[in-house]
Amino acid sequence: MRKKIVAGNWKMNTTVPEGVELAKAVVEKSAQLPENVGLIVAPPFTHLASVASVLKGSKVQLSAQNCADHEKGAYTGEVSVSMLASVGCQWTILGHSERRQYYGETDEKLVEKVKLALAGGLGVILCVGENLDQREAGKHFDVVTDQIKNVLYNFTADDMKKIIVAYEPVWAIGTGKTATAEQAEEIHACIRKVLADKFGAQAADDTTILYGGSCKPSNAKELFAQKDIDGGLIGGAALKADDFIQIALSY
Ligand code: 13P
Repeated sequence: MRKKIVAGNWKMNTTVPEGVELAKAVVEKSAQLPENVGLIVAPPFTHLASVASVLKGSKVQLSAQNCADHEKGAYTGEVSVSMLASVGCQWTILGHSERRQYYGETDEKLVEKVKLALAGGLGVILCVGENLDQREAGKHFDVVTDQIKNVLYNFTADDMKKIIVAYEPVWAIGTGKTATAEQAEEIHACIRKVLADKFGAQAADDTTILYGGSCKPSNAKELFAQKDIDGGLIGGAALKADDFIQIALSY
């Protein structure tokens, strides 16, 4: 049985004290959640150590938003997988569209990052998704299929046990425009099929596939009711503990 997960990507928001307060509120409210729903928060790098102490002993897991594409050395400004693991991170988000768009993150670079993350004991939340032009041109299935193949086909069914896929249509991120449950489900089903083609039906069936893009308490229930949608990667609504938990309670 694959896990249901609701993950909060805080992006470049909150100061450390604000982040600690947010994490405390999430932990407190997480007690209401059923056993089968996992929670992950992904604060900025600067917050990780402090948030890790808040999360200790709770059901909320810790993720980074990115990691370096080298193990260590002269890479000014970068943060390595072993640094993340040393502060208690269990996950890292990789390939978020904002990193692909603004920081030149390519599928090739992502292969290296996923390799390093897995080797360093981190789980990976790999983001994929088409932009508006690609959707309007009817290329969304091809774009997402290529992203999955370019990155994940370099790994094994065993590696997939540590990998979550997040489908985030770029046109739905921070825009208030959510993909309809049908639009999201058809891409999720396509992703699961592409995974099955390489790793087999069982591995594909066990992979958690999250939806992200203007997911909020008012639309989470309908999205999460879809067969292949196993939770959400939440941006804006993850900055309010009540909304974030409300979304997680939508199961
Ligand atoms: P929003 O929920 O703010 O649209 O962001 C989604 C996202 O990018 C999560 O990674």
